[in-house]
Amino acid sequence: MERMEVTETFAGIALPGHLHTQESLGFAAAFAFRPTDVLIATYPKSVPCQAGPALTPSSAGTTWMQEILTLLFSLGDARPAKTIPNWERAPWLEQIYCREALRDTETRRLLTTHLPAHVLAPALQRSKAKVIYVARNPKDVAVSFYHFHRLAKFLPDPGSFDAFLTQFLEGTVHYGSWFDHVKGWLGQRHLLDILYVTYEELHQDLCGTAQRLGTFLGCPLAPGTLTALEQHCTFAAMRDNAMANYSLIPPEIMDHSQGRFMRKGVVGDWRDHFSPQQNALFNQRYQEEMGDMELPTQWPM
Ligand code: A3P
Repeated sequence: MERMEVTETFAGIALPGHLHTQESLGFAAAFAFRPTDVLIATYPKSVPCQAGPALTPSSAGTTWMQEILTLLFSLGDARPAKTIPNWERAPWLEQIYCREALRDTETRRLLTTHLPAHVLAPALQRSKAKVIYVARNPKDVAVSFYHFHRLAKFLPDPGSFDAFLTQFLEGTVHYGSWFDHVKGWLGQRHLLDILYVTYEELHQDLCGTAQRLGTFLGCPLAPGTLTALEQHCTFAAMRDNAMANYSLIPPEIMDHSQGRFMRKGVVGDWRDHFSPQQNALFNQRYQEEMGDMELPTQWPM
């Protein structure tokens, strides 16, 4: 299947061109956040949908967080998660369909972004919106992102894993450098109302992390909400939920014969992909970039 090679460049970052325009990116950068808005920010991987809404997965736990917050906002009622695609429940701020998706929305808005902090920070700092930044061990991000490139026809052909990893470490993949993304959003910790969550924490203690999210958002969780989260936010439940697993995306945009978006959902899959040389190179680069950063977690390297 042919690749769609259209690229839009914004703030020095390459983005899929059929999902983003200078207009849609400018809309995001100047967005008038409401105090009740909640923004999920992650380093990305993005998918478009033919009919306008275009969503996207990143490799960090974006989809998982969208599902958790959907259930948290609905007080455990699974109907929105089961009937509305995640890109409508939590639209990507920078994508072309967002303006339309937000029209007439009176309820608390859940938004998603893959943009770097420096693009959105001015608008966020003028507001009281809350931000949830989700991060994942970058070695697992690289693996997940690589597999995602094989499905996503709006991203360049990744070539071999080795070639992709080189680009990932150089920050020349679409959406730019993982290191810059994480450092940029961590740098906002004293300037925004922001909570940092890791994919690994969600794995280890979904309910505990959901309670932390509820406290941050000012909506403590009822026992029924926790039960619904445990039921609907497992990997297996989300893999089988067409509103969350991207199976609705047409094959010319996402080639489902190449694998599933909900691929493995495990911690540490990098160990099955990295050679000792790739691991050494990654560790060296990680140390150079992140050595003195105070991180929300210490990922096993
Ligand atoms: P893998 O490719 O490692 O399986 P994003 O939503 O940011 O694009 O992240 C996608 C990654 O999150 C994929 O990782 C996907 O399987 C994983 N994921 C999504 N929902 C999950 C869940 N409920 N439990 C565990 N992993 C999940």
